[in-house]
Formats: sequence, structure tokens, C-alpha cells
Amino acid sequence: MPAAPLPEPDAAARFASDALLARIAQELREGGNWMSFARYMALALHAPGLGYYAGGAAKFGAAGDFVTAPEIGSLFARTLARQVADLLRPGDAVLEFGAGSGALAAALGEALKALGVRAEYLILETSAELAERQRARLRTSVRWVDTLPEAFSGVMIANEVLDAMPAHALAWTPQGVLERGVCLDLGQLAWCERPASGEVLAAAQALKIEAGERYEFELNLAARAWLRTVAGQLARGVLLVIDYGFPVHELYHPQRSRGTLMCHYRHRAHGDPFYLPGLQDITTHVDFSALARVAEASGIEVLGYANQAQFLVNCGIADLLGAVDASDARRYAPLAAEAQMLLSPAEMGELFKVLALGRGSAPPLRGFTEGSRAHTL
Ligand SMILES: C[S@@+](CC[C@H](N)C(=O)[O-])C[C@H]1O[C@@H](n2cnc3c(N)ncnc32)[C@H](O)[C@@H]1O
Repeated sequence: MPAAPLPEPDAAARFASDALLARIAQELREGGNWMSFARYMALALHAPGLGYYAGGAAKFGAAGDFVTAPEIGSLFARTLARQVADLLRPGDAVLEFGAGSGALAAALGEALKALGVRAEYLILETSAELAERQRARLRTSVRWVDTLPEAFSGVMIANEVLDAMPAHALAWTPQGVLERGVCLDLGQLAWCERPASGEVLAAAQALKIEAGERYEFELNLAARAWLRTVAGQLARGVLLVIDYGFPVHELYHPQRSRGTLMCHYRHRAHGDPFYLPGLQDITTHVDFSALARVAEASGIEVLGYANQAQFLVNCGIADLLGAVDASDARRYAPLAAEAQMLLSPAEMGELFKVLALGRGSAPPLRGFTEGSRAHTL
């Protein structure tokens, strides 16, 4: 349970959470009272009709649980549009993964048009409930696809998608690497551990973590598998992964010994993934080095890596701010506040990173001309 009391869900939300809990409990009973944390996270976030992303929770904005960069306003999308416009060639498309409320698609589509760029905008969204919301907002300006287009050419964008992919939980101990899974203990969801094995153990050992004491961390194998698939279908163009995370040496740091598992419920962050399953977001930080290694092994190139602030500055966020008269407080103040959220190291500027991966597009890309950190990956 989170330390401070959190707002109570209404009866319908609690009913939905109880239904998901029953679904998880049934699977646990059938599976010898153990499931990997990745399986638990997949159910808690994506179980059809009941998972956090698949169900009816508000999720985004003031009435929801968290705010993403495109939800703050259009400045993020308008700045990103400059990079996207540079990269698109005639006949190319834009493909957005996990488009949430549709905020980025709406603003980026508009911004590209304003820059004189015409490109089809595709969305690949795993949540039927969110795809419905996106359709209501975006109507005919977008085409939704259920699978990755084969031999895609253009720009792909995944903003805060990989952190929501199911991750395995591990504990490095002096006795060896344990996999932290989920079981029922006196009817309640609880952590249960057993020796890690197979692919999970191999990936954990590859991190070469020396556990003097206990060291807990997560391993997002789903993100790596996703990238392998995406790389395989990228005929020409660029994938922009935007998310919070670090390169391997900063992520698996001795001081971060409890991992990065983070839950978001009504704009409060806490560390209990078993609290109200289906009603809260569960996330882990992205290992950008792991993505770079998968990209290289899949035959696509690392074209740039920078923190969000540096990327947006390189793309000219200051020009967009400067285009508004600073003495016009009604227009300028919200824009300046938005820029502050996007750029400040205490907000999204430093923790969030932008990784550009691609085939057939030569660096340097506009967003990485200054302050690129690709050498740290
Ligand atoms: C945290 S939200 C971010 C939404 C949006 N990109 C934004 O920045 O506001 C995560 C989104 O990714 C979607 N999603 C999760 N896993 C996905 C996957 N494997 N492929 C495509 N979308 C996915 C969710 O349904 C949701 O739309």
C-alpha cells in the first residue's frame, strides 16, 4: 500500500478492479500460485476490457493519473514536427505507436501541415478503448493499423510506450539471481521469488551486476522483442523512442538498488504494483543501451541520443516561444509554463530521453546536433 491515503475509486471502478483481481487469481491457481511479474504487468495493464490501458480509466489529464508531454499542450508536437518534417520523403508515412488520447497525433498532424508536409498518419494502438477515443478525436485524419506495415518507409514515434511494456522483476543476491514473481498469500497479491532461469537469467547475467547485498531491478525483454520486430519492418526511415530512462551504466547504478518500478494513480507516484490492479499505471524506466544493442544487432543504426531538453532546443523550441509576444501574458504565460515542464531538469528535461534509430537516413539529425550522448549508450 502507498504510504499516504490515495483517493478512493468509485464503485464501478472498484468492481472492475475486483474482476481483474479474480482473473489474475484464477490464473495463479491454475499455474501453481506463481506468475512472472511481466505476466502480472501484462494483465494489470493490458488484459482485454479490464487492464489499465484496456479498461475505462480516465488515464490522461487532470482527471486521470499522469500527464505526458503531448498532454501538456501543443508545443512538444510542434517542436517535434520540425525533426519529423526533415526526415520525411515524398510518399513516406508517420506511424505513431500507442497514441493515448490522440493528443500528439492531433497536434503533430496540424504542425506538419503548417510546415507544408503531406504524409499519411498511421496509429498502431493495442488498446481498443483508447483507439475508440482516438477515433472520436481524430476522425478521418488518421488511419489505424492492427499490425506493423511491412517494409515501412517514414518516421515512427513511440512516446511513453516502452515504459508500459511488461517487465520482469529480478533480485541479484549473494546466493544468485532470483526472479521476483507474483503469488497469492492469504488471499492477497504478494511478491514471491524463485531462482531465475532461461532467457531471463541469461539477460540478467549479461548485465554483470555484482550484488554484494541484495539488488532489485527490472528487465524489459518485451521492449527488446518489440524493437527487433520494428527494426525488421523499417525499410527506410527513423524510429524515435521518447521515454524516461538511462543508459545501462546510469540505470543499473549501485544507488538505485530498488529498481525503477513506479505506479501512477491520480497524479501520485508510489511503488506498490498490487494496489488496485487495473486502475493504476505501472511503469519501469527504459534501458536505452539495451535498445541500442538490439538496434545494432537488427541492422539499424543509432542516429542520435539526447535528453528531451537538448533535443527540443536543437529542434528550435526557442523559436516557437519567441514567435509569441512576451508582453501578451495571456498567450505567452501558458506557453512559457509548458516549455518549463518540457525542458526543466527537475521536470521532464533530463529524465526523458530521445533515441533515434534508423535505416538509410544519414546523421546528424537536427535534434542531436548539440549535446548528443550517443557515446554513453
Ligand atoms: C503512457 S501511454 C502514452 C500515450 C501517448 N503516447 C502520450 O504520450 O500521451 C501508453 C500508450 O501506449 C499504448 N501501448 C502500450 N503497449 C503498446 C504496444 N506494445 N504497442 C502499441 N501501443 C502500446 C497504450 O495503450 C497507450 O496508448
